Amino acid sequence: VDKAQILVASNRGPVSFSIGDDGTIDFRRGGGGLVSGLSSVAAETDTLWVCAALSDADRKAASAAPEGRLDRAGYDLGGASVRMLDIPEQTFTNAYNSVANSTLWFVHHMLYDTPNKPHFDAAFRAEWEDYRTYNAAFAEALLTGADDGAKVAVQDYHLALVPRMMRGRRPDLRIAHFSHTPWAPPEYFRMLPGDVGRQLLEGMLGADHIGFLSPRWADAFLRCCATFLRADVNWDNRTIDYGGRVVEVGVHGLGADAEGLRERAAAEDVAQWRSRLRETVGERKLVLRVDRSELSKNIVRGMAAFGELLRDRPEWRGAVTHLAFAYPSRGDVAEYRAYTEAVRRTAQEINDEFGTDDWTPVILEVKDDYARSLASYQIADVLLVNPIRDGMNLVAKEGPVLSENGVALVLSTEAGAADDLGSDALLVNPYDVTETAQALHDALNMQDAERQERNARLVEAAVALPPQRWFGDQLRALD
Ligand code: G6P
Repeated sequence: VDKAQILVASNRGPVSFSIGDDGTIDFRRGGGGLVSGLSSVAAETDTLWVCAALSDADRKAASAAPEGRLDRAGYDLGGASVRMLDIPEQTFTNAYNSVANSTLWFVHHMLYDTPNKPHFDAAFRAEWEDYRTYNAAFAEALLTGADDGAKVAVQDYHLALVPRMMRGRRPDLRIAHFSHTPWAPPEYFRMLPGDVGRQLLEGMLGADHIGFLSPRWADAFLRCCATFLRADVNWDNRTIDYGGRVVEVGVHGLGADAEGLRERAAAEDVAQWRSRLRETVGERKLVLRVDRSELSKNIVRGMAAFGELLRDRPEWRGAVTHLAFAYPSRGDVAEYRAYTEAVRRTAQEINDEFGTDDWTPVILEVKDDYARSLASYQIADVLLVNPIRDGMNLVAKEGPVLSENGVALVLSTEAGAADDLGSDALLVNPYDVTETAQALHDALNMQDAERQERNARLVEAAVALPPQRWFGDQLRALD
């Protein structure tokens, strides 16, 4: 087996496969900061990305590859090779859907409807065992693939236990863990069963360096370690002394990949979408939102705010269109399906109340279409990003980068992006529908010059931390 000097581990990998009608396997490179970050170092160093097979096509491709490792040619990852783990279906479902996305995601985004959930019973304990098994499979693959003294960058809440599982067996490795989500404050984290909370914290503390996107999440993690592990925390240096080792906690913000975005946005499919959308919206103003169809994104309250705007300020009726692009996400989780239905109902209610023969107030599209999103960034007047909690939120950064005429950004205080963009966005409490409606009104009324000046500063802040630098920082933190 080839050994790598740099390893990345994440649930969702940088490529996905599909099986065509004629039975041939095709692949698609994924997007996101991690992919562009890694491609930039992979050209010089031997790198390996370990991820889970997420579909039948993935499993087929993975099992056809020798040693389970996929040919490094052709993925446009700067020479990184990929190893997709074929995890037994039940184990994967319990780890990914039940523990990671229904429990840990809900805890860190504070999404529970507590009279009913969470409900930590015997079934949860069994699912937790599968989460352990899934983490162990990643640890094993990383141990096999890591060269002497290699650097390992473990990503996100799916893989919290991996650093500790590796630490004891390979003291030579330098291990980082990075969270792309917020971290729950102790008052919320404590709802996890005590042994589960402890395993998660101790699992991550197996790393040498633990990274977050915002100081808020880093500090919440430190507080959890102090509260539940009685770890010795140095608040100024953000270090944790626990179990005879000192672990560093760092903040590595992530910005938009301006170059990659602009290049992609220059393609013909984006231009076609741009003119179609322009035609749909006409002379009206455009309020845009782009999210995964996801509870934390707070789409329902955002639409309710748009409804309140139309109700209280009749001058906007017929004068503004709200485009909401929702990417289908995690459809195996019941709460996600129910939420998408609630989003659809809310859009329908507003359209029933205010729609006319020649004006549909809310145009909701639940579909995966990147080119269309990029085109909509170019022409939006207002961009609404109002998550309940969000690790960073790159829509808030990408929108201004592609805006042609300056976009007014309405942004939740609870998104990590508010750290970087707060002074030029209109900040809102995501739970306050009336405040959000007022911010939409102010954003729509913003004078051209002010909007453009703010947009220029938003862009400057948005591109200050390109993914290459963000990923490089994670690796340098291990030196
Ligand atoms: C968030 C998480 C990522 C995850 C992504 C998409 O950004 O931090 O780890 O990959 O959402 O979710 P999915 O479940 O489709 O991978």
